[in-house]
Amino acid sequence: MTEYIEKIKDLISKSSEIPLCYVHSFGCQQNVSDGERILGLLSSCGYGITSEPDSARLIIYNTCAVRENAENKVYGMIGELKHLKEKNPELIIGLCGCMAQEEKTVEKIRSTYKQVDLIFGTHALSELPHLLYDVLTKRKFVFDTDEHSPVPLKIQSVRQSSFKAGVPIMYGCDNFCSYCIVPYVRGREKSREPEDILAEIRELADKGYKEIMLLGQNVNSYGKGLKEPICFSELLRRINRIEGDFKIRFMSPHPKDCTHELIDTILECDKVCKHLHLPLQSGSDEILKKMNRKYTTEKYMETVEYVRSKSPDFSLTTDIIVGFPNETYEDFLKTKEIVEKVKFDNIYSFIYSKRSGTKAAEMTDNTSDEDKSRWMTELLAAQREISTEHYKRFLGRELEVLFDAESKHEGFVTGKSDEFIIVEALGDKSLIGQRKKVKITKTFNWAVCGEII
Ligand code: SAH
Ligand code: SF4
Ligand code: F3S
Repeated sequence: MTEYIEKIKDLISKSSEIPLCYVHSFGCQQNVSDGERILGLLSSCGYGITSEPDSARLIIYNTCAVRENAENKVYGMIGELKHLKEKNPELIIGLCGCMAQEEKTVEKIRSTYKQVDLIFGTHALSELPHLLYDVLTKRKFVFDTDEHSPVPLKIQSVRQSSFKAGVPIMYGCDNFCSYCIVPYVRGREKSREPEDILAEIRELADKGYKEIMLLGQNVNSYGKGLKEPICFSELLRRINRIEGDFKIRFMSPHPKDCTHELIDTILECDKVCKHLHLPLQSGSDEILKKMNRKYTTEKYMETVEYVRSKSPDFSLTTDIIVGFPNETYEDFLKTKEIVEKVKFDNIYSFIYSKRSGTKAAEMTDNTSDEDKSRWMTELLAAQREISTEHYKRFLGRELEVLFDAESKHEGFVTGKSDEFIIVEALGDKSLIGQRKKVKITKTFNWAVCGEII
């Protein structure tokens, strides 16, 4: 890899100006984190970074394949790049990420989207310098979706934020939920050695990062196959001991691996945010079984009850899939019932999307699209009522908020509280990147609002 970094550097040093690269990541935090690694690699090759695709000599789309609309969006955007390539034939267009790992994408791109020069899969990040060098020197289509070694740690990520950072603790997924493409495009689950994780977080804490998000598809199964096999709770405790003014989050834990020890650890560790994103997917045991989720609603509710018995106020959020193959209205009502019972602070709900190659794609589906959309609307309306009611518990209370952007509402800044609730407060952009206490004075169904103390 280093050899090709040097070769590209050499090529670039001969050009009259520093070429710029533009990397756009779609999908989850894991992909965003890969995008930051890619930017790190490209800047060590000598590229400058731009946020304007029009001024770039290299454009890379780091794609997501989790639902059909995610893929369609990417195809739409690659289509638009055709004009840019016609204007600037020197432009190199690359595609990577989860879609790039699918055979059908490589075929479709080769036959229909000839403006694309380079495709590399999720396991080929470290090959980017070599692949890019081939494109630059041979001017031919290059692709690589094989498995390679990871990018060495000495290549620093170029992070998008100076105060919030995602840190992968594991890669891949072994769960094979029947609807999900991730295990096919991200490969088998692999945990990262704890000392590498701790070293990266120590460095971020020294740089003043205020929030560390631990990333993985099933973070609470962390530890398998390590030199010293430690569990996720132990990892949290070790990270919690690192000195610094930062908070810890993680995404996503799986309900089947959510132990009492994990909940006790979250409550004991002062740096860990008191929030759990626990993807339920469905409230029907029959559907959960068909989804291959490996827990029942009883087990899920037992976890929720344990959390609430220890901390009545604990914030819970979830993911829901509406309209799994042959789901009935009765199944859907069971989901809605659990959503109402748990009183999640927020739900992220998706209409089931058929992913070819998965088990669910082979199941008969007689549930109509109209029914699926109607149930989705019904679920969202129910959640809006729950949030409206549930957020009122924060009135008059102080929440700790890390501000991360200017609000759409003029004169306000916005951020997330430790509970992962959107909080708006009067203030300007100088507050971005700061953690402040906010006294809550107003609540809505999507956020709460207050005054900085
Ligand atoms: N590993 C994480 C989630 C990864 S995907 C976990 O298990 O929680 C994020 C969310 O996308 C999932 O929780 C699920 O709700 C949704 N999702 C995944 N595949 C989907 C599909 N085929 N159709 C609709 N939603 C899907
Ligand atoms: Fe997909 Fe299930 Fe793995 Fe999450 S746990 S990535 S939903 S297979
Ligand atoms: Fe999408 Fe891949 Fe993440 S499919 S959700 S970018 S792991």
